[in-house]
Amino acid sequence: MSSKKIYPAALGGTVQVPGDKSISQRVAMLASLAEGTSKVTGYLNGEDARSTLSAMEQMGAQADFRDDALYITGVAGQLRQPAEPLDMGNSGTGTRLLAGIVAGAGIEVAMVGDASLSSRPMGRIRHPLELMGASIGLTGPRGTLPMMIAGGNLKGIGYLLPMASAQVKSCVLLAGLFAEGKTTVVEPRPTRDHTEKLFQALDIPITINGLEISIEGFGKQGPRYPARDFVVPGDFSSAAFWIVAVAARPGAELLIENVGLNPRRTALLDVMKRMGADIEVVVTEAKGDPYGTIKVRGAQLKGTVIEGDEIPNLIDELPIISVAGALAEGKTDIRDAAELRVKESDRIAEMVKNLRLFGVAVEEKADGMVVTGPADLKTPDAVIDSHGDHRIAMSMAVLNTFADGAITIDNVGCVNTSYPEFWQHMEKLGGKVGS
Ligand code: S3P
Repeated sequence: MSSKKIYPAALGGTVQVPGDKSISQRVAMLASLAEGTSKVTGYLNGEDARSTLSAMEQMGAQADFRDDALYITGVAGQLRQPAEPLDMGNSGTGTRLLAGIVAGAGIEVAMVGDASLSSRPMGRIRHPLELMGASIGLTGPRGTLPMMIAGGNLKGIGYLLPMASAQVKSCVLLAGLFAEGKTTVVEPRPTRDHTEKLFQALDIPITINGLEISIEGFGKQGPRYPARDFVVPGDFSSAAFWIVAVAARPGAELLIENVGLNPRRTALLDVMKRMGADIEVVVTEAKGDPYGTIKVRGAQLKGTVIEGDEIPNLIDELPIISVAGALAEGKTDIRDAAELRVKESDRIAEMVKNLRLFGVAVEEKADGMVVTGPADLKTPDAVIDSHGDHRIAMSMAVLNTFADGAITIDNVGCVNTSYPEFWQHMEKLGGKVGS
């Protein structure tokens, strides 16, 4: 099991984070369904993006990395049955979105994953896909992987999402591509809209009316649209670790270039501003999924409340926000975030436990936590286990840069799912990392 040792350090400087994980995986799927070859720049070279791409290759797409770009030749809507089960590794997005495509494609597919993915709820996609006419078997102990999918002949449905989930929304819309008639989803709260933006970029007929999104199906012969080129911006969720590391340190400065600025992803910036950080954003590309630069100047942060519609737009950032809470004056209250319990780990339980090890006052709630700071952070005489959750590993690494000794974080291979360069970038920004 790989581990890293992190030392206290003041972080700051300039960094470009790797490609967005959500967008990379959607591009892999949609370029693989297209007719012709798409050139993709900025594709994430992380395990989740690779497992999704290789699943598409197993179903007939061709992928080729050359001259710093990824070229994907699509199947023009006609996927072939894979010879082996699709191993989705750690990727919830890959699994849930691809399930929609596979259910539409009229092939029989088994999907498996690692221990973390195999503990995550899949009933949330089984329900709408069955309503559309697919047959979904979840053979794990609690509505979990392994999953067997047999589909084809789907019909469009109207579906009110029971939870704010971009993965479930995207799963249904992708299945809707293959359905007869119209598929409509209604979200309880706005979630990331990368799927919708890519549909629009590909001229796939989609209608967006507030929280209601509809797609006109192509039917069982599958969607037909020409390939095009894609640029994947840096992942805001990877940038978040450096944003908090610098925002919480008075006088520190950070510049992040070419980073995704989709408003459905960047609520962390509003939170950091409320907490007192000085943040400047410049959008350099506004079309499609916007991106640009972020400048951060650190300050003594103060606590805030994070709840309601803001939650889906910073859901992956909540572990690192709890770190900001530990460094801020007063209470940082995270509510309405029960979904955190079914991410790559139970992120509420893991962060509460880990923050307490550092002497942070934190109260666990069913749907969040209340962190009281600023803590006098003491590196514990304990090893932190990421439990296979990349964002827990990275959040704890950042936390320890503010503490007083070296910490060992175990089970850090998971960082490669979203941000393989994380440790290198930590050093580039002035951190000290050992193994
Ligand atoms: C994602 C959506 C979110 C997020 C995940 C990526 C996506 O999950 O937590 O890391 O790419 O659609 P949910 O939609 O399940 O909340």
